Amino acid sequence: MHRLTSKLADPGHRTLAFGGDYNPEQWPESVWHEDVALMKQAGVNLVSVAIFSWALLEPKEGVYEFDWLDRVLDLLHTNGIRVDLANASASPPPWFSAKYPQSLPVTTDGVRLSYGSRQAFCSSSQDYRRVAAALTVAIADRYATHPAVVMWHVHNEYGCHNQPCFCDASAAAFRVWLQRRYTTLDELNEAWGTAFWSQHYYDWDEILPPRMSGAQINPTQQLDFARFSSDELLDCFKAEAQILRARSSLPVTTNFMGYNMGLSQPVDYWRWAAEMDLISNDHYLIAEDPENYQDLAMVADLTRGWADGAPWLLMEHSTSAVNWQPRNIAKIDGELLRNSMQHVARGADGAMFFQWRASKSGGEKFHSAMVPHGGTDTKVWREVCELGRVLHSIGEITDSRVADVEVAILHDTDARWASELDSHPSVDVSNIAETRHWHNAFWRAGITTDFRRSTDDLSSYRLTIAPVQYLMTDAGVANLRGYVEQGGHLVVTYFSGITDVNDHIRPGRYPGAFTDVLGVGIEEFFPLHSGETVALGNFGSGRVWSERGRAGTAETLAAYSEGDLCGAPAVTRNTFGAGLAYYVGTSLDADTLAGFVAAILGRAGVAPVVAGLPAGVETVRRSGDNGSWTFIINHTRDEVEVPVSGVELVSGADVAKSLTVQAGKVAVVRH
Ligand code: GLA
Repeated sequence: MHRLTSKLADPGHRTLAFGGDYNPEQWPESVWHEDVALMKQAGVNLVSVAIFSWALLEPKEGVYEFDWLDRVLDLLHTNGIRVDLANASASPPPWFSAKYPQSLPVTTDGVRLSYGSRQAFCSSSQDYRRVAAALTVAIADRYATHPAVVMWHVHNEYGCHNQPCFCDASAAAFRVWLQRRYTTLDELNEAWGTAFWSQHYYDWDEILPPRMSGAQINPTQQLDFARFSSDELLDCFKAEAQILRARSSLPVTTNFMGYNMGLSQPVDYWRWAAEMDLISNDHYLIAEDPENYQDLAMVADLTRGWADGAPWLLMEHSTSAVNWQPRNIAKIDGELLRNSMQHVARGADGAMFFQWRASKSGGEKFHSAMVPHGGTDTKVWREVCELGRVLHSIGEITDSRVADVEVAILHDTDARWASELDSHPSVDVSNIAETRHWHNAFWRAGITTDFRRSTDDLSSYRLTIAPVQYLMTDAGVANLRGYVEQGGHLVVTYFSGITDVNDHIRPGRYPGAFTDVLGVGIEEFFPLHSGETVALGNFGSGRVWSERGRAGTAETLAAYSEGDLCGAPAVTRNTFGAGLAYYVGTSLDADTLAGFVAAILGRAGVAPVVAGLPAGVETVRRSGDNGSWTFIINHTRDEVEVPVSGVELVSGADVAKSLTVQAGKVAVVRH
């Protein structure tokens, strides 16, 4: 794993990447010349090419036509623009699907999807894998030494449109995966708890994907199928990456789509990350979310987690509206710059977009781009050029890392997937919503958080939050226990540590994984009605959830102050070894959570990068071998006075004691 993001755009210099998906095949060649001239005007230095070019590159199986791509790459090279070259396996052409109809994916209710959009293939299809591999060989052989190419872009957003697949080929591959995981049917029957509802399996061939059935499908079967589906796509990535690595030493990536924590996550990026030479991610705002910039911050923090703290690349975001939401709301003045700079502040070594030039046909013709339909006399183009200038002015930060992070939020993919299964105590319980709730509280307090897994080394964090970490492996339990014993402060929320790796209830009072560490025992869940709140005396109030339990060794910080649970503990603190373990048995409302977060930060001795700023003024620090920088992004409608000193790189101004950052503006101060 090289993990290098720097110097991609300009080897030998610290330069942030700036550009986007470039789809010249949608335009006559005369436009390509205008494209490169405009790219140079905006300061573009890296573009992703050929992501959806399969049909033009291979008009017939085994027949390749590269002339047009040769001309594109040569033109870009002549103009000093570097290329992240795709192996074009993301969207099989119609001839492929017509020739191999069994390669088309099948939904849970048995419908075989058609082609006519993109990504229409089953990841277990041997035909798909064979033909995609041959295409990858042809592209790698042709372009591995092309001077414009600096990186390989394998596929595109794996699992976006075609996963999971429930066809017979997937069923056969699932059985092989299960045999590797469990070895014997006895073990599988035990893990899946098949004594329930007469589900015992006597032959591997009886096992199916969790296809649509009359009632709840076995939860462990569903969970294993999610794990399998992620691994199956990862196998596709690995096979294509191996072909590229055998032919060149260029870094290989695929763009993750941690683009909105509320959307489903079809693959386990923690496992995928180990296979990447650098982590790249796509992010799109949910336009109607009034605090979508906080969601952006969270996804950027999560991406940095997948990158294990190393710099990563923002492969796609939008200059303005997208085309796939119910109401595709355009970005307001300055929003483009703020969004891009948030990603950079949080570890991205560049800002790339989907896409360079807005399409005039096809399903994405209303998606914004760097060059809008209206051309260059537009707000979007002016802001694109401004971003290019700003990124250039802060190029020295390339290769630095986000620094001084002392709070971790746990985010295990299995915990998320398992918590989203059916037949749980309340549909209102959401791993992602609770995770965002906590991230938001820290964000508002000016505290940057890292995302980690429950099994990661947490010793550098003073405080760790486990929000709705419903499924907890034995290794995770042991790690968290050791973390608290060694002096860490851990917060565990409701519906955490309830089940084990197979989604079986951990025995005893809830949460079985943590009753001793937390010093509490819960005997029964009392989910709240939709919209109901529950009072916690002077402490505040909770939503979503409540429960009947007892504090053992723990001290009660807040108790339910109304209803049947009156007097039962809601928030507790326990001393365990050298550390503290808090339990939060309800979803605290925003104000209550803000107060609680302030208290636990104080107790843990964690302070913001810049103290005393209003919520909505985002500050993040990056540091490296050549300096340390504070990013300030003012999302508010008021100017703010920030007590920093050094040189402000966007304007070049010296800052003696404090800096005024206008409403909606950004600043980067070198110390
Ligand atoms: C994804 C895809 C792109 C494009 C954008 C539109 O990120 O990777 O090809 O479809 O969405 O927002």
